[in-house]
Amino acid sequence: MTDSLLDDLQASVSEAVAAVDGASDLEALDTIERSALGKKGFFTAAKKAVGGLEPDERKAAGQGINEAKATLDQAIAARKSALQTSARAAQYESERLDLTEVPATASVGHAHIVTQTWEELEDVFVGMGFRVAEGPQVETDWHNFDAMNIPKGHPARDGFDTIYVNHGEPGSTLLRTHTSPVQMRTMLEQEPPIYVIAPGRVFRRDTADATHMPVFHQLEGLVIDRNISLADLAGTIDSFVEAYFGKTFPSRLRPNYFPFTEPSAEFDLQQPDGSWLEMGGCGMVHPNVLRAGGVDPEEWSAFAFGFGMDRLALMKYGVDDLRDMFANDQRFLAQF
Ligand code: DAH
Repeated sequence: MTDSLLDDLQASVSEAVAAVDGASDLEALDTIERSALGKKGFFTAAKKAVGGLEPDERKAAGQGINEAKATLDQAIAARKSALQTSARAAQYESERLDLTEVPATASVGHAHIVTQTWEELEDVFVGMGFRVAEGPQVETDWHNFDAMNIPKGHPARDGFDTIYVNHGEPGSTLLRTHTSPVQMRTMLEQEPPIYVIAPGRVFRRDTADATHMPVFHQLEGLVIDRNISLADLAGTIDSFVEAYFGKTFPSRLRPNYFPFTEPSAEFDLQQPDGSWLEMGGCGMVHPNVLRAGGVDPEEWSAFAFGFGMDRLALMKYGVDDLRDMFANDQRFLAQF
């Protein structure tokens, strides 16, 4: 009785093991497992049959069933692990990224047109013997205005649409409206002779149009030495234009007024279409400014200039609209 029961079970187990080994995926394996070990499976049937055996036969039968089950369990576990491994491998393969070749469409990018201009201008002036100076973008009212000969109440203050910062005494802190305060910081920091440029970002409460932005960039220049004249200023501007643009543009100095220079001039370049584009201001540094910086105007003379860097780039690359430079449109930026 026991023998035939165990023989039948053995046959079922062999069949099941063969099915397990042949299971093509985890789902098929699960079906086989349930049909063998579930309530309606042959193991349950075999266990029930043990109840009908003679008591002395039951032990051997029970042992035989356990062994048969262990064989099947082992086969299932082995197959399950193999199927899981290959399923994972298949998933990895399907998710694999081929990094052996960088696609031709991926570009490494390059510096922004304004950054390029900034660096080129530094190179030009460093080549002419200037040093690069820096100052903070959040500036004191004193450095930005008072020290530059624009005391409180001076009408020139209205010309700068100043953005004030809520810090300290009301009106004492601002976003610098020009790079000219770096002149002051430089004078207070070092003794003449001084040959510096100060490229930097400046801020004004301005509406954006083709030639204006509320945030833009200027290139300040300051030369303090003995016997500096307006001719030195004009010569410096000419050399700079030729070095930067690679050719001479028709240029002109128009008399103008700035509180920090006397005399003062506006520097224009003629565009290919014949129109003049204002590049910035310049002049001989006002004695009050030199004095505020601790420089004796009897001993030293100085010229200064402040150009719009973005406008220089506009001119150099023939860009029509300043706003294009800051819209961050790849189609525009990639051209430079
Ligand atoms: N700071 C002036 C501005 O932003 C530009 C300027 C004019 C700078 C004359 C100078 C200068 O250094 O001498 O409008």
